Parts: sequence; structure tokens; C-alpha cells
Amino acid sequence: MTLTNKNIILAVSGSIAAYKTPDIVRRLQDLGAQVRVILTQSGAQFITELSLQVVSKNKVHDNLWDKEAELAIGHIELAKWADAILIAPASANTIANLASGKAGDLLGSVVLASDCPILIAPAMNQQMYAANSVQANLKTLLKRQVMLIKPDSGKQACGDIGEGRLGDPSAIAEQVGLLFQNTKLSGKKVLITLGATIEAIDPVRYISNHSSGKMGSALTNACIEAGAQVTLVHGNISVTLNQKAQLIPAMSAREMYQAVMDNIAEQDIFIACAAVSDYSIQNIKKDKIKKSEKNLILELSPTQDILKSVCQLTKKPLCIGFAAETQNLLENAKNKLKNKGCDAIILNDVSRDDLGFKSDENEVLFLDQKNTIKIEKSSKQKLSRKIVEILVENFL
Ligand SMILES: Cc1cc2nc3c(=O)[nH]c(=O)nc-3n(C[C@H](O)[C@H](O)[C@H](O)COP(=O)(O)O)c2cc1C
Repeated sequence: MTLTNKNIILAVSGSIAAYKTPDIVRRLQDLGAQVRVILTQSGAQFITELSLQVVSKNKVHDNLWDKEAELAIGHIELAKWADAILIAPASANTIANLASGKAGDLLGSVVLASDCPILIAPAMNQQMYAANSVQANLKTLLKRQVMLIKPDSGKQACGDIGEGRLGDPSAIAEQVGLLFQNTKLSGKKVLITLGATIEAIDPVRYISNHSSGKMGSALTNACIEAGAQVTLVHGNISVTLNQKAQLIPAMSAREMYQAVMDNIAEQDIFIACAAVSDYSIQNIKKDKIKKSEKNLILELSPTQDILKSVCQLTKKPLCIGFAAETQNLLENAKNKLKNKGCDAIILNDVSRDDLGFKSDENEVLFLDQKNTIKIEKSSKQKLSRKIVEILVENFL
């Protein structure tokens, strides 16, 4: 079970059980999650903001009316950041607010503004938990796909014995982990190329491009999350790669071609995400080119087309290409789909400043012979999970 690269909001409401929340943060982190905490005003009566800030290593969000955060519409930003929201402990009051869709505080607003899974772990006196209104509110929330982490039974802070104690922090963290466990690509081998290639001009200079490797890295995480065994052939990158993948560095287009061809035989899926140079320098100079007053002419020759070559193999894997375009987007992507002979093309518009190269977000069109599916702007990580879902639904 893993929460690697998952963004989890832990919302803490006003229950005596809030003293267990630093431990919940730690258990979520143990599984690999990034955790941000929302603390209600009543929650702050039971646990300090400072404790939660120290363990989560993030500022605690406790106020909808935080002028600084709201400069960037903080509650919407927070809602979009989350891969899951865990409300633990969930007080009877918070449960009632959520059931009636109230947005009067930060927690209510973030829940309404988010499209991610929501889990609630109620904690209260056993009589309160059994109350018809609490049970009716929980039923309403369950109908809206909110997931319930049932409270434990036993001796309570007030001395009562019954159902209403907040569960064990490890068990709660594991319930969050279960959300993301999937076996959609289990048993599958995936080879992904990513990053920018580097074409040497002389021993100190080169031609390259702006690819950071972020999209390929997010796809790697999504494939690993889905149970795939991933091999990464990477050029120049500015991201940290998932160490669960087999990493093969290949800096030039020629090296990348060779590395792909050497490793493609056993693969089920090939995703060509690297920005590979279309040209390389014809005669790489052995010594540094000296400065002069004259024009310098470099002769370039076309590189081998990696995606096309894989598509032409007799035993070819499922082949997915990326098209980074700046004009005639759809037309160019459709041509690429046809000319390369691949199964699908993922088209992204790299002329926009807010998307594509170096950005943490992207918006793409997934094109195959039958479908054109728009994946709306979101983090590259969320987008990658969607791409994996589409691949599985359409091809596997
Ligand atoms: C000492 C004390 C302990 C409380 N424990 C709980 C509790 O475990 N569960 C609960 O639902 N409410 C509990 N409450 C009541 C809530 O704190 C109260 O309903 C509050 O308005 C909840 O606000 P919130 O949902 O915005 O966090 C407790 C109140 C006090 C004074």
C-alpha cells in the first residue's frame, strides 16, 4: 500500500479525539503522502495549530477569511491540490454541516469546491453517534459517495462504553491508501521515454529543448500506482524520478533510440513522452569552436524516429505518442497518429505559458482511431491517472 505522490487534506474538527491527529498525519506520511491540515475553530480547542504545522511540515489552514491565502483564492487552490480529503475526527456538527452542504467555514468550502474522494471518520459520544439525526446525516453523505470510516467501540473519554471512538491512526491512514490501490496495469510492462535530448555541437555546447520530464514522471507514477513494471529511458530532466522504475539514462537522440530498441522486446506498452531532437549535428567538433567574426553554419541531419520505429516492429507493444504543438494542433496530431502508425496520440499545446513544458499542469486531447477525448486542465499527476484509465478502458 502506498500514498506516494498523493496530496491528502486532513480536516480536523472539534472532537476530543483531535489529540490523535498528529499521529494520523505521521501515518499518512509514512505511506508517502504530502499532508496539509484544515483545522476548524473548535478543533483548535483540542489540538494546537503548531503541533499540526510541525508534523505536517506545512502551514495549517484554519480560516476561510485568511486575506493572504485568499489573494490566490486559497480555498479553491487547496481543493484542487487534494487527491483526497480525510475528515478525522468528524464531529456531529461538521457531519451535519456537510450533509446540508454548508460552506460557512474553510472546511465546508473546500469540500464543496473539490472533486476528489472524501472520507469521514466520525468521533463522538456513543449516544450522540447513535442519534437519529447523526445517522440520517451520515446516510445523506454516503449517498453522495462520501466514504465512512466507522468509529471503534469501547470505553470513551466521557466514561461511556459504546461505538464512537476514533479508530487507530494507522488503520485510518490505510483506508486512505486503499482508495488509490488499483491493479489496472498489474502484470504489464511499460517503457516510457521522457525529458529532453541533448545534441552536442562541440565538447561544451549543445542543442536541446525545454522539456522538464514532469509529464513523463507523472505518467510513471500513475503506471506504478496501477501496478505496472516501468522502465524509464530519460534524457535531460529537472524532476526526481520514481525509484521503483528501472532508470536508463540516454542523453542524445541516438542514445535514446538505442536504449529504447534494446529494451522494447518484453514491453506491453510504449509511451513516447520525451522531447527528442528531430536533428543532430552532422559533425560534432572534437574541440571547442573558437569565437570569430564570421557566421557559423552548423549542418544538421535528421535523427531516427523512435516512435515510428517501435510502431513498425513486428511484435509491437501498444504505442502511445505525445504531440507538442504550437499551431494547427488537431491537424498536426491527426497526421502524427497516421504517419507514425501509433495507437494513440496525446496532444498538448506548448504555446501556452500555463501548460506543457516545465509547468505542473497540463490540458490534453487523447486521440485514437475512434475517439477524441479532452482531459481538462489539471495537475500532470491527476491527468496521468486519467490517461491510464483511458488506456485501460480503450485498449486493454
Ligand atoms: C470537551 C468537549 C468535547 C467534545 N467532544 C466532541 C466529540 O468527541 N465529538 C463531537 O461530535 N463533538 C464534540 N464536542 C462538541 C463540538 O466540539 C462542537 O459541536 C463544535 O461546535 C464542533 O465544531 P466543528 O464541527 O466546527 O469542529 C465536544 C465539546 C467539548 C466542550
